Amino acid sequence: MKKFIYSLSEEELGELLARKPLALEVLQREGNTLVVASYEPLEGLSPERVEEVGEDWKDWKKGFGPVDVDDFVIMPPWKKPVFINPGMAFGTGLHPTTRLCIKLMKEYIGKGDSVLDVGTGSGVLGIVAKLLGAGRVVGIDVSEDAVRECKENAKLNKVDIECRLATPSQIINGFDLIVANLELPIFREELDKLLSLFKKSAIFSGIYREEELDEFLRMLRHRGVKVDKILEEQEWFCVGVGDAGN
Ligand SMILES: C[S@@+](CC[C@H](N)C(=O)[O-])C[C@H]1O[C@@H](n2cnc3c(N)ncnc32)[C@H](O)[C@@H]1O
Repeated sequence: MKKFIYSLSEEELGELLARKPLALEVLQREGNTLVVASYEPLEGLSPERVEEVGEDWKDWKKGFGPVDVDDFVIMPPWKKPVFINPGMAFGTGLHPTTRLCIKLMKEYIGKGDSVLDVGTGSGVLGIVAKLLGAGRVVGIDVSEDAVRECKENAKLNKVDIECRLATPSQIINGFDLIVANLELPIFREELDKLLSLFKKSAIFSGIYREEELDEFLRMLRHRGVKVDKILEEQEWFCVGVGDAGN
């Protein structure tokens, strides 16, 4: 297997992609110039070099990120875009707490599962839940701005989410999965209610540093709750409880 390396300006890359959709791996970017790799030769262009690809070439998909070209974002077809209008509500996908929830949701959500997104903010996690095949999705928040933006973003992504102004104690029925990206002081208040709301699994995020994690795990242990997974990014922790189920 060979990898063809090209050095192109943004304009050249834009023209190339406008002619034909291509999966390109961006290796380097310096000002207006991008060094990109392709697993097939690009018509009409001479590669800067050609490299033999080793055993790990099967991981080639990992290298293809989105490429910003002017008003466009070029990305491979296996990526699933999520549109979030920048607003007042938390949840652009930049924060580790959100990203960790998405990683665990991929493991825990089964087709048609009902999902409660507690502290939905922009609605980002509810939208991702839908894209992962969830059935009924409800997003709740105590902020009116968040509820409004959750509704707008759901519409923007053409998914059906019920966005409501509510706290967990106002929710009566259980959900297959709950995802709660909150903060430790809120978990101290709401944990018992949250634990009563899920049937299969729960994801708790927004836990910062080892001291908070220790306290949170103690809270779960005292209630006899078994931890399935703990993920960490930049000292933020996300705890998965229950059944991966997939
Ligand atoms: C860290 S943001 C999470 C936003 C989004 N879910 C994400 O993962 O990016 C936490 C959200 O929880 C909301 N919130 C705080 N306390 C709450 C409570 N008791 N019940 C419901 N929502 C709450 C906040 O208004 C805020 O929008």
